[in-house]
Amino acid sequence: MATLEIRDLHVTVEADNATKEILKGVDLTVKQGETHAIMGPNGSGKSTLAYSLAGHPKYTITSGTVTLDGEDVLEMSVDERARAGLFLAMQYPVEIPGVSVSNFLRTSATAVRGEAPKLRTWVKEVKEAMAELQMDPSFAERNVNEGFSGGEKKRHEILQLELLKPKVAILDETDSGLDVDALRIVSEGVNRVRESGEVGTLLITHYTRILRYIKPDFVHVFANGRIAESGGAELADKLENEGYEAYVKGGASE
Ligand SMILES: Nc1ncnc2c1ncn2[C@@H]1O[C@H](COP(=O)(O)OP(=O)(O)OP(=O)(O)O)[C@@H](O)[C@H]1O
Ligand SMILES: [Mg+2]
Repeated sequence: MATLEIRDLHVTVEADNATKEILKGVDLTVKQGETHAIMGPNGSGKSTLAYSLAGHPKYTITSGTVTLDGEDVLEMSVDERARAGLFLAMQYPVEIPGVSVSNFLRTSATAVRGEAPKLRTWVKEVKEAMAELQMDPSFAERNVNEGFSGGEKKRHEILQLELLKPKVAILDETDSGLDVDALRIVSEGVNRVRESGEVGTLLITHYTRILRYIKPDFVHVFANGRIAESGGAELADKLENEGYEAYVKGGASE
């Protein structure tokens, strides 16, 4: 069983000629087959955690460790992280002009699997996954995220997730901006991947509505750059009713 282990992670970012510490000691363990939800106020550092795990150059790890199956993730290049089985769906997916969805997916799959998927089975695999996500087949020929609506971008992220079959998937606000039907379709996609029992999922979200479709095993409250509390699915309901005030109060060190 693959395990992502984050230990006492501290991360800074350079902004306006000053160094600002955003993550202040994150501890989290995600095992294959488990689903974790991270909830927390705006600006608490949730996306920073996702970017840091992705290896984004803007974020400097000042201390702490991240391992996947005991391998040092922080030493890996972005490509190596993907090959090791880490998948990240960003809150704001980027456009890739000149690269079609179909080429992008095949290149990604080749990188992750270590060999190019056979063309005939691959085309079928992509078509089936797109049909399940109710994506129009014409999307395959469009440039990645160019002119995609918010919801279409999120579906494209889940399409990648289904095709790449990672060990650990980090989904940053995959539910934001989705209409009710899209939310269900995207959730079903995540659940299909989850049901394999082979992926650990870290779901960053603001809304408990997605957690009605995707039942988390653990819910974590993220506040002031670290996990302030962890619990089961019931913690999400408590947060929905009571908000984050209890966690933010007195903890603000900025
Ligand atoms: N590249 C950057 N340059 C400057 N400041 C940054 C950068 N990245 C993050 N920050 C700051 O770090 C803090 C945490 O941001 P982050 O995006 O991680 O929050 P978040 O918890 O994902 O919030 P939200 O719920 O709004 O998505 C914010 O104050 C943000 O302005
Ligand atoms: Mg964010």
